[in-house]
Amino acid sequence: MQLQAELVDLLKKAYSAEKAAAFAYQGHAGSVKDANQKKEIHQIEIDEWNHRKEVLSIMQQYNIPVSKRYEFRFHVIGKIISASCYVIGWFMPFYFAGRLESGNVCEYFRMKQFFNQVGIHTHDQLLYDMGIKEKEHEVYFLEKIKTNKLLPLFEKLFSWGKENPFNNIDLDKKYPVEKSDGYCRK
Ligand SMILES: [Fe+2]
Ligand SMILES: [Fe+2]
Repeated sequence: MQLQAELVDLLKKAYSAEKAAAFAYQGHAGSVKDANQKKEIHQIEIDEWNHRKEVLSIMQQYNIPVSKRYEFRFHVIGKIISASCYVIGWFMPFYFAGRLESGNVCEYFRMKQFFNQVGIHTHDQLLYDMGIKEKEHEVYFLEKIKTNKLLPLFEKLFSWGKENPFNNIDLDKKYPVEKSDGYCRK
């Protein structure tokens, strides 16, 4: 089965980016003082390692190799973000984590669309679940900062926040997997 080049690249990138996210959350969990937040962020780290495993399992089914370039790049990025969490205060790690998660949501729905284009539906549920999980992550981080006085400024500067999600998923009115085709359409 020949997969689209864009899909292959999305898979390789997601595999490596999940590692960057997991590293980043190690620093984030380590740098917050609140014990609950520590636990919650550590759970998100575990979610990201699980995503990485799941993405790899899909790649292996199509003999897609891991990209050494992405592995290196995202390793460095993850470690830098992880270390920076200790020096940039409380608000920014939550803000940029939420912003990043918001963008990641559609990566998984786009993969699903690509697979569906070539008639493959076996990964629908998994990709849907991963997209929804990223949305839950986004909502978690947003909930923590939504009343913070810095949010309006950051929302203006970095164009993500309460009013500007990077995806059209609403967890309170979720579509089931078979009706989720309208998610992340441009
Ligand atoms: Fe993830
Ligand atoms: Fe995530």
